[in-house]
Amino acid sequence: MKVNVSEQPLPPGSSASALSARGDSAPQEDPAHNGPAQDSGTQDSGTQDSGTQDSLGQDGPEALRPAHVAPISLAEVSALVGLPAEGLEDAAPITGASLDSRTVVPGDLYFALPGASRHGADYAQQAVEAGAVAILTDHDGAKRLALSESLAQVPALVLDRPRAAVGPVSALVYGTAAAGTDGGTAQRMLLLGVTGTNGKTTTTYFSNSLLRALGHRTGLIGTIEILAGGEPIPSRLTTPESTEVHALLALMRERGVTAASMEVSSHAIEFGRVDGVRYDAAGFTNLTQDHLDLHGTMEEYYAAKARLFTPERAAHGVVTVDDEWGRRLADEAPIPVTTLAAGAGQADPAGAHPRDVPEADWTVAAARPSGVGTAFELRHRDGATLRVRTGLPGAFNVANAALATLLVVASGATLEKVQRALDRDPFTVEVPGRMQLVGTAPTAIVDFAHNPDALERALDAVRPRTGSGRVIVVFGATGQRDALKRPVMGAVAARGADVVVVTDDDPHDEDPAAIRAQVLAGVRAEDAEKGLGRRIDEVGDRAEAIRHAVDLARDDDVILVAGRGHEVYQEVKGVNLVLDDRAELRGALAERGFRLVAGAGGFGSEASDALESDAQ
Ligand SMILES: Nc1ncnc2c1ncn2[C@@H]1O[C@H](COP(=O)(O)OP(=O)(O)OP(=O)(O)O)[C@@H](O)[C@H]1O
Ligand SMILES: [Mg+2]
Repeated sequence: MKVNVSEQPLPPGSSASALSARGDSAPQEDPAHNGPAQDSGTQDSGTQDSGTQDSLGQDGPEALRPAHVAPISLAEVSALVGLPAEGLEDAAPITGASLDSRTVVPGDLYFALPGASRHGADYAQQAVEAGAVAILTDHDGAKRLALSESLAQVPALVLDRPRAAVGPVSALVYGTAAAGTDGGTAQRMLLLGVTGTNGKTTTTYFSNSLLRALGHRTGLIGTIEILAGGEPIPSRLTTPESTEVHALLALMRERGVTAASMEVSSHAIEFGRVDGVRYDAAGFTNLTQDHLDLHGTMEEYYAAKARLFTPERAAHGVVTVDDEWGRRLADEAPIPVTTLAAGAGQADPAGAHPRDVPEADWTVAAARPSGVGTAFELRHRDGATLRVRTGLPGAFNVANAALATLLVVASGATLEKVQRALDRDPFTVEVPGRMQLVGTAPTAIVDFAHNPDALERALDAVRPRTGSGRVIVVFGATGQRDALKRPVMGAVAARGADVVVVTDDDPHDEDPAAIRAQVLAGVRAEDAEKGLGRRIDEVGDRAEAIRHAVDLARDDDVILVAGRGHEVYQEVKGVNLVLDDRAELRGALAERGFRLVAGAGGFGSEASDALESDAQ
């Protein structure tokens, strides 16, 4: 039974594909495949983005599904996607949805979409054997299904653009269409989303911690891990596929989670991974150069982010207006927006980022150092004030803490309650690999900064304000990603560090030496142009580069190992090598007899777990 459709009343889900970003750095797979597809930047538009299998972590697909799903009829699905319901009365009820034949469980609707090199319909037989009771596909897929007598018997919905149906249909199947609002019959679960070039992970950890302090049972979906009320599930993608996102939200709700925070990358929006999700409040951190390999121009990159701030995706926006993109978003967003000026009132008034204070609803003021972090006030234009503190270094963490606070305020918590929760110091949390302190003399920090803006801010944050200590930076650039940023990062390092050690990041399939050469060209050009006289070293092997930095360091110096943060393996030509910057730094410091911070580094077992799961 095949029904054609002419129009789809659904939000668009782009089908463009490209290389994934840092944070999406696992080897790519085609979701419709039963094996890894080539990791390539050459996939045409019209192909699927990937990584479905990888994002499942070690627990397997079932672990991320709710135990119970109220069955819905295929006729309901058909109606949602604008197809007739007639003739579907006898179809089996649907209790799940999957984009990948390998993750199908009995009762699933299988989305058979065109993939990078194969069509999902080519895996429909496996999907049906695994228990899929219906298929949603395109016309090409329908033709392929028709070739098999048995598959031709499986109820199928055929759409011109099936990608756009995945999110909304998954939301219907898992009953999560109203997860972020109180609109439907679904039990209320508060949902916050954070987008922007930098600060998404940190801000979601902060909002998660504040929500906890408010008494919520919380969930988190992000680059580092997924927290859904049980054991943490290591994350391989910034955002999983929309089928998984909705299953996760349903799982969280089932486990009694009352508030969840979610990192929303531009990829996630672009690839339709958050289609059908509606946030109570969506936050914007900033927009700076990154991911231009995917988006082409800043304008397109902005447009991808801005799509989160529309009525079907978010009830309320909280927008940091420190950059021009934020100011533009605050003007253009067709939803109610709270604005935040966080660039003002930084701990160091003579810092590298003196800014004009833009007009905003809330402004960061009276910032002063508090331990390695910052205490500050959030002042509303009508006079209301919140007292906030973050234990993480860097002016950007003031911005992240402010944004997390206002997201919670925008989602409906009263200022009194929020203040009481803030007084419990929720923003003094360890965010793995984000400004993570490994040693104190020399100060040794591992940070995830992997684009020019983040590197500049991280270098600024670690620069000793007194004494003669130097900054030694160890970093590289990823292969097959936005090559334009390499010399720019080199120039940033030359300006912000006294000693620059250029090393490898994840080279992927590229020649590591060629990547280093591009970074070094930027370092040297800036050094020569500004007459900086920096020490510039090249050490390809990253562990060796870290040891080299430690060898050069004196007690009052700062070592910043930037770019890989919490990551525990390095990808070289499709092979994952165990490498944890925190463990390497810790080991090198220990060898020289330097003092370590308890608890940092030593993630060897996590690394081998990750590798084991890769091999599966
Ligand atoms: N608000 C901010 N503005 C600029 N830089 C930031 C900000 N917050 C964090 N950073 C820097 O960017 C790095 C990445 O931070 P974080 O992981 O929170 O960002 P992200 O947006 O989740 O990144 P990704 O897109 O890679 O997942 C940090 O390690 C820090 O160096
Ligand atoms: Mg992140």
